[in-house]
Amino acid sequence: MSYSPGLENVPATESSISTIDLEAGKIWIRGYSLEELAMECTYEEVAHLLIYGHLPDTRELNEFRRKLVDESLAPKEVLDILGMLPKDMHPMDLLKTGIAALSGFDPELENSDIEANRRKSVRILAKTGFLVGNLGNIREGGFRLFRSDLGHAANLLYAIIGRRAESWELKAFETAFILYVEHELAASTFAARVIASTMADIYGAVVGAVAALKGPLHGGANEKALEIFQYDVEGAEKFVRERLARKERVMGFGHRVYRRGIDPRAEVMKNVLAELCNRIGDDRLYRVAVRVEELMANEKNLYPNLDFYVAPVYKLLGISPGLFTPIFVASRVAGWCAHVIEQQAANRIFRPRAIYTGPRGQKISGRG
Ligand code: ACO
Repeated sequence: MSYSPGLENVPATESSISTIDLEAGKIWIRGYSLEELAMECTYEEVAHLLIYGHLPDTRELNEFRRKLVDESLAPKEVLDILGMLPKDMHPMDLLKTGIAALSGFDPELENSDIEANRRKSVRILAKTGFLVGNLGNIREGGFRLFRSDLGHAANLLYAIIGRRAESWELKAFETAFILYVEHELAASTFAARVIASTMADIYGAVVGAVAALKGPLHGGANEKALEIFQYDVEGAEKFVRERLARKERVMGFGHRVYRRGIDPRAEVMKNVLAELCNRIGDDRLYRVAVRVEELMANEKNLYPNLDFYVAPVYKLLGISPGLFTPIFVASRVAGWCAHVIEQQAANRIFRPRAIYTGPRGQKISGRG
């Protein structure tokens, strides 16, 4: 049996949802460039593309937007459960619990045909957005309802910051939000597909994916990457050099697939950061980012991933660090659902082999 640690370069499934095209420097989502989708579309259009397989026409888009608002309010019981959990629990753990609890209220939980999975995906998308936007508010005993005059990303930001965002704030937020939506077979997506391949329900697959995303080597990196941005340029350089000297990882750098250059999504967010810094008239965070990027390229031949450039953008938007990874969930959930739908529509259970390195033939008797 051949073996590739971490399944590096091993194709584990066929998929028509998305691919990373290293030669073109693009991420294709059902044939469209993710970077272009992020610049030109709304989140709802891209989520529709993932769940239904095509970009919506005006009627479909209006209908989809309406459902995302109508389906958003989580049951009182779920809000009560979250309100009872320890105040210092990480928001990702609250969210995992919240989504698991939501499954009990979905009348189609056990129906995994393609249309039922699509209907459940819309409900999961709507309610996950609501929960993420309100994680902080629920702890204070309240919540902000999603509004029919706002899109999904705008509603999320409204629930988080407690006011309607300025158009330039929303543009920065929604660009990042779309860039997070889907990225081929990332660890969390693979986890979702493995769970779905047992024909377990879509909520279970999403809960497993949330658990995988929390890790600092995956989605948890966007919260951790923020640490660098508390410093000025010299302080950040010192921080990075010390980490590297201790053989510690610098969060927001490196990627299993982008070995030889910057993640194309990070390139888009780098421009967004530059624009934000320009608008507020303070370019410290941009200067820190560019210096650290140069340093990591020279010292380690490593390049920024999306999380590195999202962290300072969220900081400038006034979002609390504990919500960075939950916001990633609120976006990526559309990609996970698309993968569960695809997996269960033509399923074969994942059951790989392990290369055994332990002993054989041990005797149970005679242990002393
Ligand atoms: N900082 C310092 N060194 C690093 C980093 C980093 N961020 N990433 C990789 N390296 C080093 C490794 O120590 C290793 O060095 P060695 O050969 O001297 O042992 C070498 O680069 C190769 O690294 P691997 O561990 O083989 O890379 P792998 O593909 O397994 O891991 C990963 C990819 C997990 C993303 C890794 O680069 C990492 O830990 N990065 C930091 C966490 C992060 O930013 N994650 C976000 C990923 S993108 C996303 O989820 C949106």
